Order: sequence, then C-alpha cells, then structure tokens
Amino acid sequence: MLHRSLGATGPTTSALGLGCMGMSDMYGPSDRAESLATLRAAADAGVVLLDTGDFYGMGHNEMLIGDFLSDPAFTHGHKRDDVQISVKFGAQRDPAGNWIGFDGRPSAVKTALSYTLRRLRVDHIDVYRPARLDPNVPIEDTVGAIADMVKAGYVRHIGLSEVGSGTLRRAAAVHPIVDLQIEYSLISRGIERDILATCRDLGIAITAYGVLSRGLISGHWTRGQGQGADFRAHSPRFQGQNLDHNLALVEELRRVADEKGVSVAQIAIAWVLAQGPDIIPLIGARRRDRLAEALGALDVTLSPDDLAIIERVVPKNAAAGDRYAAHGMASLDSER
Ligand SMILES: NC(=O)c1ccc[n+]([C@@H]2O[C@H](COP(=O)([O-])OP(=O)(O)OC[C@H]3O[C@@H](n4cnc5c(N)ncnc54)[C@H](OP(=O)(O)O)[C@@H]3O)[C@@H](O)[C@H]2O)c1
Repeated sequence: MLHRSLGATGPTTSALGLGCMGMSDMYGPSDRAESLATLRAAADAGVVLLDTGDFYGMGHNEMLIGDFLSDPAFTHGHKRDDVQISVKFGAQRDPAGNWIGFDGRPSAVKTALSYTLRRLRVDHIDVYRPARLDPNVPIEDTVGAIADMVKAGYVRHIGLSEVGSGTLRRAAAVHPIVDLQIEYSLISRGIERDILATCRDLGIAITAYGVLSRGLISGHWTRGQGQGADFRAHSPRFQGQNLDHNLALVEELRRVADEKGVSVAQIAIAWVLAQGPDIIPLIGARRRDRLAEALGALDVTLSPDDLAIIERVVPKNAAAGDRYAAHGMASLDSER
C-alpha cells in the first residue's frame, strides 16, 4: 500500500481510503456479508482510512464497522489502531430517512460523538467532522466543541466537509484541520477554483469523494440502474439527456483506458491520485471485486502526455448536470 499524509498535522494514511456509505445507504440494497468481506479485504490490502457518517443508514454504517472491528476475521490479524476511522456528524434525518437539516451546535457535537463511540464500540475517533456547515452556528463554535473532545481524548483530529475557503480559514484559526472531505473527480473540479489552493496554504489534505462520480464514470454504469431510493435516481447527472452526454464522456475515457490496458474506473482514480500527494481518494467500493479494481489504480502511472489526453477528452466542466439536486447544492458552503 502506498501512503499519504493526512495534512501537515495529521497521521500518515493509506493512499486510498474506503468510503463505507454505500454499504448502508444511498445506492440501493447492499449485502452485509459482502460488505464485511470488503472491509476485511481492504484491511488486508493495507487500506487504513475508513470513512463513515452517523447518518449513513441512521447508525447502521457505524454499527457495521463496529461489527467488523470486533469480528475475529479482523481481530486475528489486526488491532483497532490499524485503521483510522473518519466520522461525519450533524446531518439530521427523520425516521423515514428524509434529510431535515444540519446541527453543528456544541451540545449536538458532543451528543452525536457519544452515540457514535457506542455504535462503533471504540474509545476514540480518528477524524471527526461536521458533514456540512450549519448556517446557524459559527464554525468556530462547532470546531471549538470538537477541540474540547480532542482535549478529552475522544477525538484525535478534526476534519471538515464541503466547506469553502472562508470557512476553512476560520476553522483552522481555532484548531488544526487535517483534511477537507469534498467531491473531486474528472467531472467535479470545483475545488480547483480556490479551495485546493487554500487547503495547500493551510496544510490541509483533501479526502476526495465521488471520484467515480458515484459510479457514473466507473465504466460500469448503464441507463436504467439506480431506481427508487437510490441517490442516483434523483441526481441531475444521471437524468435524461445529461446521462447520455455524461456516458458519452465515459466512452471517450474508455478509449484512453483501453490504450493503457487499464479499466475506466482505474484511470478515473489514477487521475485524482495524480493531482497531488495531498489528495486521498475515498473509494466507494462495497464489493470485493470493485475494491480490487480500485486498488489496481495505485499501479497506474499517468504521464504528462496521458494527463493531456485525458484533459482533452474530458475537459473541465465537461459534465452535464449539477453534482447534487437543488436542495443539496444549496447546503454546500463549498459552492458559495
Ligand atoms: N462528505 C460528503 O459529503 C460525502 C458525500 C458522499 C460520499 N462521501 C464519502 O465518500 C465515499 C465514496 O463516495 P462515493 O460513493 O460517491 O464514491 P464513488 O467511488 O464515486 O462511487 C461509488 C459507486 O461507484 C460504483 N463503482 C463501480 N466501480 C467501482 C470501483 N472499481 N470501485 C469503487 N466503486 C465502484 C460503486 O459500486 P456498486 O457497483 O457496488 O454500486 C458505487 O455505486 C462514501 O462511501 C462516503 O464515505 C462523502
């Protein structure tokens, strides 16, 4: 496993992290046994960073990871500290799973953390972060409350998610921030406007999600997938003519991938890895075959010529459709 540093003040971590969301939520039904096997395969391959959120499946994802950490198949070869657990909090949901706002108040931070520690069955979280900026709570208050939890030993490091440069600077003035979790891929390049430069200035790593644009640029997506409660049934990029346009881009990318003898997903992940040593892709694999494909990206070297060709076939702003539906876009401090 290759390693990268989680910001100037954070620990060394694996060059790829495993995002566990899809094992509990957002992408339709998942298979518990296969999810646990994927977590084990990731640990065995040296993937250290596991990303979750307390709202993924309303606690389900944390309990799954808790089960994994106490599973003899894990504990025979590994210890708790062989993995780094990154947890998002603050997204509010009702019992039907509807998204009903964000809560970044200090009391909410401490309450959410207490429940998370119980569900994961651990005594500390490696990186704790608000999922979104709560527009009603100064970021200094939210980060200050997490900093209290760092002092008390329940949290090791503080991260942020989908915030812009101004919020990053205000937060970093309160406590060191190790990483910003934000969407970044060949077709989601918003951080290149100013956020990436701000992170570099502040010594904050990027943990990139949506590197495969939620499967859209994985090379495996076909029209008709993703029905019902699946996030992609409502995502602008997966609808109608937008989808036709975006899948045409994937076919262009497939020609480049074929030339190099790699898969589309591998070239998309390798492109993000090539954007800087401070960028750590979070891979949303929930099956062992997908994980193995993603890990293969670590062996793909993209030359300057390769990068220029990729830029030509999938230029900046090439995608049709926003990365979230309107209400989701409105909650992104990073897009202001
Ligand atoms: N901070 C935030 O706001 C935020 C938002 C979203 C996600 N995240 C985090 O980031 C993680 C990854 O995000 P994402 O789900 O958007 O990731 P992604 O990697 O862009 O998309 C994952 C989807 O691509 C499919 N896929 C196809 N080939 C794949 C391959 N070789 N490797 C991995 N996946 C492949 C997956 O598998 P299937 O074919 O099995 O469906 C899944 O449906 C999440 O698990 C979560 O932890 C954070």
